[in-house]
Order: sequence, then structure tokens, then C-alpha cells
Amino acid sequence: MHRTLSTIGMVVLALALGAVGNSYAKNNHDGSISSSEVQQGFAISPIPANQLNLKGKNHDMVGVGSYLVNGPGGCSGCHSYPQYLPMGDAAGSNPAAGDPFEGTPSSQGLNTQLAANYNIMHYLAGGQCFGPFMARNITPDTNGLPQGLTQAEFVQMMRTGDDVHCDNDPTDPICSLGPPTPVLQVMPWPEFHNMTDRDLESVYQYLTALPSAEPCNTVADGCPGFSGLAAHQVAYAYPNTNDCPNPAPPQ
Ligand code: HEC
Repeated sequence: MHRTLSTIGMVVLALALGAVGNSYAKNNHDGSISSSEVQQGFAISPIPANQLNLKGKNHDMVGVGSYLVNGPGGCSGCHSYPQYLPMGDAAGSNPAAGDPFEGTPSSQGLNTQLAANYNIMHYLAGGQCFGPFMARNITPDTNGLPQGLTQAEFVQMMRTGDDVHCDNDPTDPICSLGPPTPVLQVMPWPEFHNMTDRDLESVYQYLTALPSAEPCNTVADGCPGFSGLAAHQVAYAYPNTNDCPNPAPPQ
């Protein structure tokens, strides 16, 4: 009797776990949008999980960090330039897709991951201008830190808008591109200020797990200043290669 009851209990438990598994732990193997931020984060990282440096890092925090960077934080849209490559460009992550802003493919799935040809070689390497200001390269530097920032400095920058990198290294030519300003002008730090400590740490863990990359557009190419609404879309002096097309595709 005791045995029968426990067997029934096991079956009920297995069914319950199965139900939870179906509704909450849907993985992305079929290309669908996962309800787990960790899984969704790894699925949408343009840099595949096996190329992320997870050594000494918390796996789940890196996943959440990718979710925030590539999803709601929108970091990639400003810090990757060009962010996408046209359909057919083999330098990108998915040449069968293209630049979603160009409407390629002609429709996106309602329940599937974004179809896009990410410019993976220059992912988060900066170089995009916003008037006189240039988005920074936020991949790991030679010391493995984004813009040389420790985690505490990164949190300080995200919470206060302090340009900690230029405070630490004022001779970096990127620091003299725009007029002097009391705080970062384009970085949406007032919104990022409100993120939880753990989410900020997760973003930092993901950034430090990335491969280092160089921008297509360098500081020497300069920024056009405040001369026109579409100033950030002008062609720069970067080499006209498949991964750094010149003129830049509209973003
Ligand atoms: C609207 C465009 C935009 C978005 C979105 C954006 N950034 Fe930035 N970010 C910039 C620009 C431009 C700069 C440098 C100049 C400035 O803001 O005045 C910058 C600077 C930085 C710096 C260097 C700060 C320093 O002083 O060392 C880091 C690190 C950074 N961003 C990380 C991020 C992360 C992480 C995200 C997403 C959570 C993000 N950015 C989202 C545009 C953006």
C-alpha cells in the first residue's frame, strides 16, 4: 500500500514537472522566444555561447546580461556599427537574412527569434557618431575590461553618467571629440540608473565575456558634429570591406 501510494506520488510529481517544463522552460532549439531570460539571452547573443569567455563567471548572469544588452538595454544598436550587414553578405551572422531596418526578410516571425545578419566581427566595438559624440568600444580591452572600467566603475558610470573612462585616461583621443560636458550625453544612463545591482553586474559579466573587437570607424575619422539630422549616417573613412561597408548601410 505504502509502495503504491509513493508510486502514484512519483507519477503525479513527474506529470507536474513535465507541465512546468513545457510552460516555463521552453528552450530555443526550435528558434522560438524562450520565457527564460537566461536561455533567451544565450539564444540572442550574436556571439555564440561557445565563443563567450565564461571562465570565472556566473553562467546565468552572463545569460541575463546578454538578454539585457541585446534586448531591452538596446546597447548593440548604439555601440555596434554598422550593426547589421545586407542580405547575402557572408561577413555577417546570417547571410540568408539581412538588415531588419531594410525590411529583409520581408516579415519577422511573431514567436521566433529576430532574423538578422549581425556584423559579428565589429559587435559592440563602437564607432557610431551621434553629432560630435562617438559610441565607445565596449568589448574587453587588453586588460579584459570594457573601456578599462572595473565592475565598480561600470556601475558608477551607469548610475551617475560620470565619464569614468575619460576621467581615468583623458589623453584617449575619443575624449576630445565632442565639447566638454559634465556627464555622458548620449548614453541613456538616467534610465540605466534604475536597473538593479544584479542586472548591472550581469551586463558587466556579459561585456567582459565577449571577444575583443575593433571598430570599423576610428576616432581619426572623426564625427561630423551637429551638422544635420542624419549626421550619424554619413559615410566614414573606414575600409570598404564586406564587414565595414562604405557608405554605411542606413541603420
Ligand atoms: C542611445 C545610444 C546608446 C545606448 C542605447 C547605449 N549607449 Fe553606451 N554610450 C553611447 C555613447 C555615444 C557613449 C559615449 C559618449 C556620450 O554618451 O557622451 C557611450 C558610452 C558608454 C560607455 C563608456 C563610459 C565611460 O565613461 O567609460 C560604456 C561602458 C557604455 N556606453 C556601455 C553601454 C551599455 C552596457 C549599454 C546598454 C545597457 C549602452 N551603453 C547603451 C551611446 C549609447
